Amino acid sequence: MAGGQDERRSELLRQGAEADGVELVEYESRHRPGTSAERRARRPVLLFWALAAVAGAAAIAHYIVWPWKYVPPQEPGYALYQAYTPLLGMWLGLSLIGVFGALINHVRRVLPKETAVQQRHPTGPSSEENREIFVATVEDAADNVGIRRRSVFGRAMGIGAGVAGASVAVIGVGGFVESPWQPGPRRGEADTLWHTGWYPEDGEKVYLRIETADPEQVALVRPGDIDPGGLLAVFPFRESERGNPQQLKEVLSRADNPATLFRFRPGERVEYRPDRAGMNYGDYYVFSRICTHLGCAVNLWEKQVNRLLCPCHQSQFDLNQYAKPIFGPAARPLPQLPISVDESGFFYATGDFTGPVGPTFWELPK
Ligand code: FES
Repeated sequence: MAGGQDERRSELLRQGAEADGVELVEYESRHRPGTSAERRARRPVLLFWALAAVAGAAAIAHYIVWPWKYVPPQEPGYALYQAYTPLLGMWLGLSLIGVFGALINHVRRVLPKETAVQQRHPTGPSSEENREIFVATVEDAADNVGIRRRSVFGRAMGIGAGVAGASVAVIGVGGFVESPWQPGPRRGEADTLWHTGWYPEDGEKVYLRIETADPEQVALVRPGDIDPGGLLAVFPFRESERGNPQQLKEVLSRADNPATLFRFRPGERVEYRPDRAGMNYGDYYVFSRICTHLGCAVNLWEKQVNRLLCPCHQSQFDLNQYAKPIFGPAARPLPQLPISVDESGFFYATGDFTGPVGPTFWELPK
């Protein structure tokens, strides 16, 4: 910078300090430019920016290539799946440590030592002179920070902060890359978030099945398998899945499949709703087992009053009112599954749930 401009800026800074009632008690550079002391002070700043850049790039790579799809325990790949979120958090955390470490070291080791005392001043629009002073102050700060004079700082800051910011942006945008509304590869239209595993495709019946110790064993349910006032957890089953271990297991792990088959006691009063007519089979009703608050399994049961309880945040659903929430944070009823009984006496679903399962579409895997 030309000497005249330098003097003019110093003069403006001094005027600005006086006009703002600022007393500069201390203002001195920490190191003379170009000395080895200055180079030593810069080193940790550059190292922290490098950490921010490397960890940010690792977070982006991890997010894109690491296997993230759900793998049940004891299956190959379960350890990798389990490590997905902790490792992603670790890379992002290191990247943020890099950013803040660089900024803290820059302020403590590189910027001039400054102690200033400023009086309060009245609020209102700034005068032309004050604006000029502000510009001079910002330019002076840019020079002192070293971004302008020491271009290596500017580049390190640009790369470190840029990559760290990009890692956060990639993760934010990544969830929108694959549209959850598009038909999926295996079951086409039935794979969209509008449908669960109970969605009947190609006219094939979807039976109610209970889970046993062996996921490949198929145990269907008939009326009479539960006592009045009792309930059972049920999952969908199609004859085309019989003998296919992979599909029989997948059905049990899909997030929106679990449902509760409930049998009312004889003579119990259930609220009548014309829009739900024909969805029950006598005293038997089926509702989603997934809480509409945050998606826990609603698996506690108050038998005397026909209420299902969610153990996570204590929402209660009244089965006498079609699983309407009557206590706790859940705001929507558990969706109902329409059922009937086929000619062999087994329960089957005549359609999909009456509404979205769980808290939101976005958290359900395809
Ligand atoms: S997840 Fe059920 S009450 Fe919160």
